[in-house]
Amino acid sequence: MPTPTHHIDINHPDFIASPYAQLKALRDESPAYHDPVWDKTFFTRHADITSLLRDKRLGRTMLHLYSREEIGWPPPDPRTKGFRGYQDNVFMDMEGKSHARIRSLVTKVFTPKRVESLRGRLEQTTHRLIDAVEADGRCDFVHAIAEPLPVTMIADLLGIPEAQRGNLRPWSNAIVKMYELGYTDEQVEAANRAASDFMEMVGALAEERRAHPQDDLITDLVQVTDQGETLTENELRATSIFLLNAGHEATVNGSSLGLRALFQNPSQFETMKEAVYQNNTSLLKTAVDELLRYETPLPMFQRYVLEDMEINGVPLERGSEVGLFYISGNRDSARFERPDELILSRQDNPLLTFGLGTHYCLGAPLARLELQVLFSVLFQRLPNVRAAGEAQFAKGFVIRGLEKLPIEF
Ligand code: HEM
Repeated sequence: MPTPTHHIDINHPDFIASPYAQLKALRDESPAYHDPVWDKTFFTRHADITSLLRDKRLGRTMLHLYSREEIGWPPPDPRTKGFRGYQDNVFMDMEGKSHARIRSLVTKVFTPKRVESLRGRLEQTTHRLIDAVEADGRCDFVHAIAEPLPVTMIADLLGIPEAQRGNLRPWSNAIVKMYELGYTDEQVEAANRAASDFMEMVGALAEERRAHPQDDLITDLVQVTDQGETLTENELRATSIFLLNAGHEATVNGSSLGLRALFQNPSQFETMKEAVYQNNTSLLKTAVDELLRYETPLPMFQRYVLEDMEINGVPLERGSEVGLFYISGNRDSARFERPDELILSRQDNPLLTFGLGTHYCLGAPLARLELQVLFSVLFQRLPNVRAAGEAQFAKGFVIRGLEKLPIEF
């Protein structure tokens, strides 16, 4: 059967807010469709996405195997020089030996013990953020709580001094705009500037830590070596920046989309509160995973096809690109019972939210802990918390989240 052709307006506000009906129709029709505008083959089913993420014939780059000339890629766009000075050194966009080398260095320093040691600080920070708004009786959840919490935690973890934290969110915001399908010249300019300034700031900090080591990840990255193989200076800077960005962007969106989902599902909202009041940690854990399945903050990732292949009857040509709708796999009735229902006690939950395979999210334990602590403290401190107006989605689908979530309590 030939692969059907469709164009989904991925950046349309209605699609961003609720892509589920369109994605269901695509899942029901065929395993994949080709989008002529983006020239990509998109997959929507859980089983296909799972096997593609484990398939070595796909990668986040092709440059570990071929030169640009061999695959017919044009030279890099000179307009994106500043951005690429950062992005070309990000290990998530590497494959093969370079990816394995940097990922194993990061795994060595970003340990479960270090993550668990953050619990107390996470609780304190959440209390402090709630203290600041409690007397007002209302706030915008995104700006008052969802955003500052993971930013503070990841900045603490890396060891960014307080005085330099103000730029983290704007720089990160400017950089991640480049991951959307389609961006403007102004966005490229802003990303170039942000990436260059960020690289410089982190470079100076790494220099400082080399001379005066501290108990933080930048110091660990400066010091860590792996059987003689080390990070280059640019890799060290880019890895630190990537951890700072990846360490908060999706968590901000995961917690605010999660709270909105609870507001929209009153019986599950009550279940969540009960879980908190009874300190039912196993339910809290399944609840956080279910919220991250039900609303996927990073809905779509891409891969290059490294050699000619076929998957589930869909032919894929070397050098072509595929888009994997994790958000769609997360609602696939072939894998999830009652996929469009929020069921906080769901046990069988192979969510695609953190990806799978070689690039599986290194921060998943931290993200899960952050959401568990955030919801626990929120419902303990503000038992009457409720929606106080319409939530507003931010622009962009690839990084999907809320601009505003007004709450009162
Ligand atoms: C709710 C929050 C989060 C979500 C939904 C999320 C999701 C993801 C996904 C889907 C990937 C794989 C991308 C792909 O398949 O191409 C990924 C990779 C990654 N994430 Fe997360 N993430 C979250 C939080 C975090 C946090 C808190 C950190 C901590 C620093 C982090 C660090 C990373 C890193 C380092 C990678 C790259 C792994 C590699 O390429 O080997 N993430 N994340």
